[in-house]
Amino acid sequence: MKPGILVARAVFPEVIERLSQHFEVESNQDDVLFTPDQLIAKLQGKAGVMSTSSSRFDADVLARLPDLKIVANMAVGYDNIDVAACTARGVMASNTPDVLNETTADFGWALLMATARRITESEHWLRAGKWEKWRYDYFLGADLHGSTLGIIGMGRIGQAIARRSMGFDMRVIYHNRSRLSEQQEAHANHAVYVSKEELLRTADHVVLVLPYSSESRHTIAAAELELMKPGATLVNLARGGIVDDTALITALKAKKIAAAGLDVFENEPKFHPDFLGLENVVLTPHIASASAPTRKAMANCAADNLIAALSQQRPPNLLNPETFRQV
Ligand code: GLV
Repeated sequence: MKPGILVARAVFPEVIERLSQHFEVESNQDDVLFTPDQLIAKLQGKAGVMSTSSSRFDADVLARLPDLKIVANMAVGYDNIDVAACTARGVMASNTPDVLNETTADFGWALLMATARRITESEHWLRAGKWEKWRYDYFLGADLHGSTLGIIGMGRIGQAIARRSMGFDMRVIYHNRSRLSEQQEAHANHAVYVSKEELLRTADHVVLVLPYSSESRHTIAAAELELMKPGATLVNLARGGIVDDTALITALKAKKIAAAGLDVFENEPKFHPDFLGLENVVLTPHIASASAPTRKAMANCAADNLIAALSQQRPPNLLNPETFRQV
């Protein structure tokens, strides 16, 4: 008998079909957002789940899932999974790294340029019928070329963002838990490792691409915003909660920094309503990895992890290798 799995959110039909060759699949193509209790009920007797960051797998949830062998997240970030609790229960956990690096880096640039050059703000103004004449000072923005780009979180996506900055003759500074090798720095447009404070004081544009954890929560709060240049742009591609949204709103209102581009929010899909009243913020609904080929690659990557895990193979993106030895 095929093992049972749950695909917790809607996904490409071809991926459901692929999974059905290996498993009894319960899908959710109506994309119902299950409550924790509903998720737990759906997962009784199931060996695996394809999840997204909207489903939490913490110690309490895992304690009620005795049959579960793998949580395969369709995301590179996995702050919705308590990996230590998974390990303690012998449950494998996996994510989808690498396949989204270049697409996410492209989007980082899209958001950075839209924010620095006030693209959405000016488009809204035009659509509102306000364009009656050309003026020398309409929508003056900040230059990208020749400026200093500060990247906080210099993993694979951060490095891909840095590489793209070569075409804009930018200087790159970065802050990360650990310093890159010389070779990696050279590849990343000769990025220079600096303290977070120096980065915030020096960068014209700051991009956040670090993973969310209790340590990275509010990496950018009131004190950090205070350090930034008055003309600076802040872009958050990483996770809501890395920025203190209330402090950011205060800083944007007071023009302490010029503008922000945000793809992620604290408590998303809810977000602070004051963002909507601000002109100097570009808001997108967590779509940095959303190109058609990349989202398909992510879904197939999560499927690869499920298929491997439930056929006694090591999942290619296993986050807790200790569990593989246990099966
Ligand atoms: C998206 O946010 C991801 O973590 O893949």
